[in-house]
Amino acid sequence: MKKIAVLTSGGDAPGMNACVRAVVRYAIYNGLNVYGIERGYTGLINNNIKEMNKRSVSDIIQRGGTILKTARCPQFKEDEYMQMAVDNMEAYGIEGLVVIGGDGSYRGALDLYKKFGVQTIGIPGTIDNDLAYTDYTLGFDTSVNTVVSAINNLRDTMTSHERVCIIEVMGRKCGDIALYAGICGGAEIILVPEVEFDLKTVVKKICLNQRVGKNSDIIVLAEGVCKAEELKQQLKDNGVKGSIKTTTLGYIQRGGAPSMSDRVLAARCAVRAVDLLMANMGGRVVGIKDNQIIDVDIEEALQKHSKFDKTLYDTAMILGL
Ligand code: F6P
Repeated sequence: MKKIAVLTSGGDAPGMNACVRAVVRYAIYNGLNVYGIERGYTGLINNNIKEMNKRSVSDIIQRGGTILKTARCPQFKEDEYMQMAVDNMEAYGIEGLVVIGGDGSYRGALDLYKKFGVQTIGIPGTIDNDLAYTDYTLGFDTSVNTVVSAINNLRDTMTSHERVCIIEVMGRKCGDIALYAGICGGAEIILVPEVEFDLKTVVKKICLNQRVGKNSDIIVLAEGVCKAEELKQQLKDNGVKGSIKTTTLGYIQRGGAPSMSDRVLAARCAVRAVDLLMANMGGRVVGIKDNQIIDVDIEEALQKHSKFDKTLYDTAMILGL
């Protein structure tokens, strides 16, 4: 294999730039030509392809977002558009493609591989940490740190005013951001889609905390459960007294300089991805398990379901008493 390309797709995540840099530089180190595709699969269809050199990726390791831009591309489910993408790659002589993104992006990579024989390798890039085959995805650690920092600030003011605060965090159907940020921020209550919640128990806990003189209650709510305002109403309707505030952190969770963990993960995944392409071993995704870089079949990876850590959740609930 002489020419490969890299794209970022789906929601951006801190660490994507560090990963693009690592793919480009490691590929060049190995004598490959490397191309950057702009705007994910949309750019592949529209021929937004440019050759990268070592300097194209200077000064980006510390930046959130993605210099390649990203997009969600519903068209990419249709063969007609995929064929356009394949034709564009063939025109450049590109034989291998590194896709940095989440499960939707992996489906595109799988189709390219199975239907069109393109050697594709996926690298997990999403703040959600919702890919069950890997312990961590790029961006998750940074995002959790952003949320923890927000919880720290909110705790100060909630304690001063003796309030309850509901903090809604991202993650789609996955509760990992809520769980990890919640345990790090000392949340009293963490609500995630993976654990059914009983409103009465939540109300009881807050009322008890108020009776025994706790100064504040932090509830970290995963977006996959419900909206912060809905929960606030339910708490009020069911007898929680006093002031309840809500904060929806939103897109602030997707930006910022990547953490040490995300930068190291980006470098390690990129090296494995390029090595796999050089060995013509497409149709795989890279990840990390027990601190070892792994690669698995894309289809197998997509079939795995939730790796939610219930033990950690139970611990968080005990410690947040
Ligand atoms: O997948 C990352 C994520 O930030 C989710 O946590 C969130 O639900 C979604 O993307 C938001 O997507 P969009 O950028 O399309 O609003």
